[in-house]
Amino acid sequence: MSEESEGELEARLPEGESFEPPESFVEQANVTDESIYEEFAENWPDCWERAADMLDWEEPYDQVLDDGDAPFYEWFVDGKLNASYNCLDRHVEAGRGDEVAIEWVGEPTDETRTYTYDELLDEVQEFAAALRDLGVEEDDVVTMYMPMIPELPVAMLACARIGAPHSVVFAGFSADALATRMNSADSEYLVTCDGYYRRGDPLDHKDKADEGLGGVDHGVETVVVDRLGDELEHDLDDDQHDYDDLIGDHAGAEVEPVTRDAEDMLFLMYTSGTTGKPKGVKHTTGGYLSYVSWTSHAVLDIKPEDTYWCSADIGWITGHSYIVYGPLALGTSTVMYEGTPDYPDKDRLWEIVDDYDVTQLYTAPTAIRAFMKWGKEYPDQHDLSSLRLLGTVGEPINPRAWKWYYKHIGDESCPVVDTWWQTETGGMMITTLPGVGEMKPGSAGPPLPGISANVVDMNGDEVEPGEAGYLTVDKPWPGMLRTLYQNDERFIEEYWQEYSDEDADEWVYFPEDGAKIDDDGYITVLGRVDDVINVSGHRLGTMEVESAIVGVEGVAEAAVVGGDHDLKGEAVYAYVITEDGYEGDDDLRERIIEGVEDAIGPIARPEEVIFSPELPKTRSGKIMRRLLEDIANGDELGNTSTLRNPDIVDDIAGKVGED
Ligand code: WTA
Repeated sequence: MSEESEGELEARLPEGESFEPPESFVEQANVTDESIYEEFAENWPDCWERAADMLDWEEPYDQVLDDGDAPFYEWFVDGKLNASYNCLDRHVEAGRGDEVAIEWVGEPTDETRTYTYDELLDEVQEFAAALRDLGVEEDDVVTMYMPMIPELPVAMLACARIGAPHSVVFAGFSADALATRMNSADSEYLVTCDGYYRRGDPLDHKDKADEGLGGVDHGVETVVVDRLGDELEHDLDDDQHDYDDLIGDHAGAEVEPVTRDAEDMLFLMYTSGTTGKPKGVKHTTGGYLSYVSWTSHAVLDIKPEDTYWCSADIGWITGHSYIVYGPLALGTSTVMYEGTPDYPDKDRLWEIVDDYDVTQLYTAPTAIRAFMKWGKEYPDQHDLSSLRLLGTVGEPINPRAWKWYYKHIGDESCPVVDTWWQTETGGMMITTLPGVGEMKPGSAGPPLPGISANVVDMNGDEVEPGEAGYLTVDKPWPGMLRTLYQNDERFIEEYWQEYSDEDADEWVYFPEDGAKIDDDGYITVLGRVDDVINVSGHRLGTMEVESAIVGVEGVAEAAVVGGDHDLKGEAVYAYVITEDGYEGDDDLRERIIEGVEDAIGPIARPEEVIFSPELPKTRSGKIMRRLLEDIANGDELGNTSTLRNPDIVDDIAGKVGED
């Protein structure tokens, strides 16, 4: 966009302004009555029956919430259901089997696939039968290491059908990351693929999967999807099976959905935390599925006749909740795109919106900032008038990007929902209801009905409006994580210890985000307050990156911080002390970058590697991370006199931006 038009927009949509939901949207919205906030508050926790009512239960629950063993809450106690039945069979039984469930768009522009609900149900049953034949039993964890191909949701739903929890590992993660997660979950089954396309080139994935399998300390049966056909040939070992062969062998199979307890595990999702070891977040069948269905209905305004698109990757929680489970439970058409937004050109997303008449688009601020940079001429080439609602998630969105999205993608006629939530929360927690509340660019909004979130100081007392504090949630909700896989102790330590009063049995969930609140109760989330960096909306633990770097030969010590980045939000800055004899070793920078990519994946690639003979430390020997962040950002450096080695600071600062 030109400087001038940007200026005009800014003038018309000044900071601090708020926007009413567009009339045309409100007229048709799923939720339009403001009294819902009061209604939920007065009837808590029974208000959550409204979420559970969105599902078909085999046996009704006896109790909405059991808080007898807090914070190990149980929701919809003794209710029985199956997630795959709710996402598939019930729509087919309702006569909607020929309606589209998944619109899959491959990266090559001539490659698309459409799955009706009938077709998806058939393939899910066939694959469920195949998994059983391979030995998968109820409660066995099945790992998926797959890119954005339809066989991924098929495999997830097949697992859900037979009561086997899935653990999806983002395809961009490294072989090591796969092995760590499979070992941690004792997972003896893997579904993966030969490869996929990235910007026109076939990318080998199976080699990486095989390498990961080499690091798994138990036997694994593997299923390999042939995504690339003749482009890439692979041999299969005895314990590796071709997906198409398995489907062929089980053609027409019928597999009854198994009866699951509401509290039975639906899936595990590993995410980064403060320590080096990723956390296995456990989500359940009844609470999670109710919660993502309800929020898909209330916030994303999904209706069965919509063509809804969330551009996240299913390897992250956003894709689980809002590409697969929420949209399919509501029986809508969900779009899945394999490629990147700039291939073959920077209008690819807008071309898809135009071609499929997409009605809702849910994406990330990092993507919006890239669209802004590329310019409005790309969306302008296409008819985007099918869009009714826009959403964002993953990191704070700056008001400028919000307004650009609102104007150039939504034509000022779509509400924008800025949704704050986490892997742990299962679904959205803080955002406006698009048919109810006014929107304030830069602020996610009030907590959703039934959600009790506050901004507090270090003592847990609520801060004044406008003051920065910590976000807390002091009532449970159905979509919450139940524990960290096989680690109840760490579950308490990570999320509940900080602000709860155990003796009084008052439990407060701490998401480890900073925030502020305004006079209207709108919450602006400021970002993580733990050692987690948010790179393009992806969570990375600084410790994970540091341990990858110190594993590289020639590195003595490393400190990793997040620095501001125009597109990514935050980027990885690595400060490294070399071992004697490695000073001035040009190779080392490359080997450090490789080491990080091998241990975690390209998303963790350091933006800069800064070599230094020392790191700034306090007198007690703690690395001053705050100072390293300021250096990365080129900010003014405050008082450094309390450092043990103040002289080093200018030396380091001089090196940032050199490479
Ligand atoms: C950040 C992604 C500001 C936050 C669903 C949170 C946000 C972390 C927003 C969770 C938002 C997510 N505004 N910050 N709308 N949404 N975040 O687990 O720091 O990958 O704690 O879940 O992303 O990331 P996760």
